[in-house]
Formats: sequence, C-alpha cells, structure tokens
Amino acid sequence: MSSHDEHQNHPNNKPPGRKEMSRRQFLTYTLGGASAFMGVGAVLPMIRFAVDPILHKKGEGEFIKVAEESKITGEPQEFHFELKQQDGWYASTATLTAWIRKNERGEIYALSPICKHLGCTVGWNNNKATPNEFHCPCHGARYTKAGKNLAVAPKPLDQYKTKIENGWVYLGDIVPNTEAAKEA
Ligand code: FES
Repeated sequence: MSSHDEHQNHPNNKPPGRKEMSRRQFLTYTLGGASAFMGVGAVLPMIRFAVDPILHKKGEGEFIKVAEESKITGEPQEFHFELKQQDGWYASTATLTAWIRKNERGEIYALSPICKHLGCTVGWNNNKATPNEFHCPCHGARYTKAGKNLAVAPKPLDQYKTKIENGWVYLGDIVPNTEAAKEA
C-alpha cells in the first residue's frame, strides 16, 4: 500500500460524519416528505367524504310527484312517497309521509307527520278522546287540521313545499308551517 493510499483511506481523513449525516438527513427528509404526502393524500378524500354530503345534499330543492290533485279533499289524507338521496358516494331511498288536504279556500297543503315535541309520528283522527285532530301517541301532543299545536308540542307541524302541475300534487323540502296562521 502506498503512502498515498494510506493517506486516502485513513479514517481520520474523512470529513467527520459528513457522509452519514447527509444520508440520514436525506432519508429523514425523503421518508418524512413521503409520509406527509401520503398522509395528506389519504386524509383529504376522507375530509371531502365527510363534508361533501353537508355541502351537497342531493335531493334538496327537488319536487316529487305524490298525489293526484282530484283525490285531495277537505279531510287530511296520508300519502307515502320515496325520496332518492345521494350523500357523497352513498345512495339511499327514504320513504316519507305527508298528510295532504285542501283548505276552505281550496288551497292544497301537506303536513309533515313528525311531532314537534320529540319527533314521534302523528296520525289524523287517531284518538277517540280528541276527534278530528292530529294526535301523537308518544306523549299526547295534539294539533289542528292545519297543524297548529294545541297541547304538549311547542310548535306547529312542519309543511312540505307544495306545487300543483298538470293535475298532480308535487312535494318539495320541509319548511315551517304557514297554514296554521290562516286557520280561523
Ligand atoms: S313526541 Fe309527540 S308528544 Fe312527544
């Protein structure tokens, strides 16, 4: 071995720890960067998946054909209809109920059956003690034909947005009751 080789290979001649440091740093940065990138890549879709249904609840603002106009009378009648929902990737169908009636002025309105006390389902004329009223079997809330709250519940029954087209009643989003105020 020449004195030149000795000089080259002598451990003390290497810049102390420089090569190892830089490799370690390189690995730290590379792996750290890659994990952060993958982390963000994995988390972003999850956040979007969680938030998207809130931002874009498909089905809102739509009207659904529910009943023939000619079938609607002054007596509340129960109709069921299906609402197709697309929440993010998840598609589902909900069966909804409406109590539809024509008021004294000939206007058609549709009430939601969800009790404004704690959310049970009300029925029409379903309690012998209080005929011709909506009654909730859970805690005895009572409502008039127009959905005005008479007992237990703090608010009138909600309504569906309603439109009449080509002899059919279409129902849309649920909105606060406006019918009760028209009642004598
Ligand atoms: S939920 Fe209807 S009375 Fe309580």
